[in-house]
Amino acid sequence: MIKYYNGDCLEVMKELPDSYIDLCISSPPYNIYKKYNTYKDNRLDYIDWQIEVWNTVCKKLKDNGHLFLNIQPTRNNYFMPFEIVSNLEWQVQNIFIWNKSLLIDGYVKGQSFAPRSNRYIANGWEYVFHITKEGNTDIDQKTSEVPYNPKWAKQNQKRYGYTHRPTVNSWFIPYETVSKSTVNKLKGNKKHPAIFPKQLVEQCIKISSLQSGIILDNFMGTGTTGLVAKELGFDFIGIEIDKDYYEFAKGR
Ligand SMILES: C[S@@+](CC[C@H](N)C(=O)[O-])C[C@H]1O[C@@H](n2cnc3c(N)ncnc32)[C@H](O)[C@@H]1O
Repeated sequence: MIKYYNGDCLEVMKELPDSYIDLCISSPPYNIYKKYNTYKDNRLDYIDWQIEVWNTVCKKLKDNGHLFLNIQPTRNNYFMPFEIVSNLEWQVQNIFIWNKSLLIDGYVKGQSFAPRSNRYIANGWEYVFHITKEGNTDIDQKTSEVPYNPKWAKQNQKRYGYTHRPTVNSWFIPYETVSKSTVNKLKGNKKHPAIFPKQLVEQCIKISSLQSGIILDNFMGTGTTGLVAKELGFDFIGIEIDKDYYEFAKGR
């Protein structure tokens, strides 16, 4: 099942049953005057609005569901992400740092786009908050473990019986939009300024340990979460307020 809605996520979520969704992977606008097609990224009620949105998402999640909320501190308010997540009815279970690296010739190198300033160093990373009902939902670390360096894998298996080790909470995930063409397919004002790398969505799914179920992205944008959900055999519900992004996500 794949469902797309063109509308305001708070309105659309009213139509969804409570305790229905297994996993939400999403990223809101950050209220930093980013140039979206139609959405104006400068709400006065931003923090209250965000708290209402994520509390509503939590209502729609099953009791053992997971919310992965990707958000970045802003220069106006470094504590903004914490003002949101510390006021939710559900609990923060893990905090991940997504280091927005660049992929050059197949290797992770350098950092994402950094504007020049006489005062401020640009943010090269973002938070991904893993939020669950009580902050202690079981996960299986096997699904997100990482291989040892091939050089040592054999030795480690002999000695300890392991070829892989658990992942940690900092992820070097290249920012695809820098080099890939998804963003170029949306022209002019319709260009989307903040697209997820697919790997970020895959990593959240791995951490949740879920193998099937319904994934929600209530700020769907260009539909990256839906694309990964489909590729991995999950059901998907996506909500996007902008008609052009919504059409693009459907096509994608
Ligand atoms: C940070 S972007 C998400 C990008 C997405 N992760 C992707 O990979 O393309 C946030 C999106 O939320 C949309 N949006 C803003 N307000 C919304 C609302 N009230 N309901 C649904 N979508 C909204 C914006 O148009 C924008 O596309």
